[in-house]
Amino acid sequence: MSLKRALITGITGQDGSYLSEFLLAKGYEVHGIVRRVALEDPDHRLSRLRHIRDRLVLHAASLESYASIHRVVQDVQPQECYHLAAQSFVSYSFDDEFSTLNININGSHSLLAVIKALAPECRFYFAGSSEMFGTADEAPQSESTRFHPRSSYGISKVAGFHLTRNYREAYGMHASSGILFNHESPRRGFEFVTRKITAGVARILAGTSDELRLGNLEARRDWGHAREYTEAMWLMLQQPHPDDYVVATGECHSVREFVQLAFSHAGLDYRKYVKTDKQLYRPAEINLLKGNSAKARRVLGWTHRTTFEELVAEMVDEDCRALGVKVVA
Ligand code: GDD
Repeated sequence: MSLKRALITGITGQDGSYLSEFLLAKGYEVHGIVRRVALEDPDHRLSRLRHIRDRLVLHAASLESYASIHRVVQDVQPQECYHLAAQSFVSYSFDDEFSTLNININGSHSLLAVIKALAPECRFYFAGSSEMFGTADEAPQSESTRFHPRSSYGISKVAGFHLTRNYREAYGMHASSGILFNHESPRRGFEFVTRKITAGVARILAGTSDELRLGNLEARRDWGHAREYTEAMWLMLQQPHPDDYVVATGECHSVREFVQLAFSHAGLDYRKYVKTDKQLYRPAEINLLKGNSAKARRVLGWTHRTTFEELVAEMVDEDCRALGVKVVA
């Protein structure tokens, strides 16, 4: 029997790397779309895939080019497609709304249209986001909570979500969206607050820095482990019917709690090092995101396993290890 073929956009990112490992372990042939510059600078841009690079098939293409996506889907003929690629940094979406909307909406649209034309039986996963809820009317947020996005990033994800739903309803495609709440790991990009904090703790311990500048410490998020969230993506595509699912822990913590825990794990008092900087506040903030993943638990049998405390400790330990410093809390 031939191997099942999966195609991943955004394969070089945190989620793409965990999902690749997971699918390889399940015996999939894993293909990924990467920008040409990534293939030309593999040490830097493919760093999260280094340990599995020789088991992946990478294709140079761009979500901004319909023709390049068309070529890859025609060549690969995937049975499953995981669309993770996006301009995903919320702060940046305030600096350049136009490119965020263009890349995120048109990229998702192109991919759906190409799959409909060339591989209509392919099961499709769209990476939706808790940012779609924005200032929500209720907490916790579930699949039935009204969207009220607060950034062009959130708006682009609402558009992608509706495109996915409409391809499912209009053309009968097996297209599902995961509404994933914040998910972190030692592979998180340094621009996101959790990694900025844990990398900052490691630098302070190593003696190369003596402060950490952050924005709003009172924002509350529902933080889980990215590795577990990629398993939920796969589970969605194994269901007989496509659908949308919230993926979250159901617990929320403030940025300040994350900071406190990360510093105390390293034996440090955060109040000596953390400075708040108004420049790092967002023009429109989301104060509270907390997910209700009852449907994912019931239908997919998915549940998170890593606690908040374990997540923070793993991230601090890994960043300290990378700098060769010992955590002696
Ligand atoms: N990045 C950042 N940097 N955030 C800060 C800082 C800082 O210095 N200081 C405070 N924050 C606050 C932000 O204002 C926000 O309320 C919270 O920390 C989390 O910010 P991020 O880690 O940048 O993540 P996000 O919640 O905006 O979005 C992430 O999660 C979404 C939901 O899963 C991203 O990964 C999105 O792409 C994703 O969709």
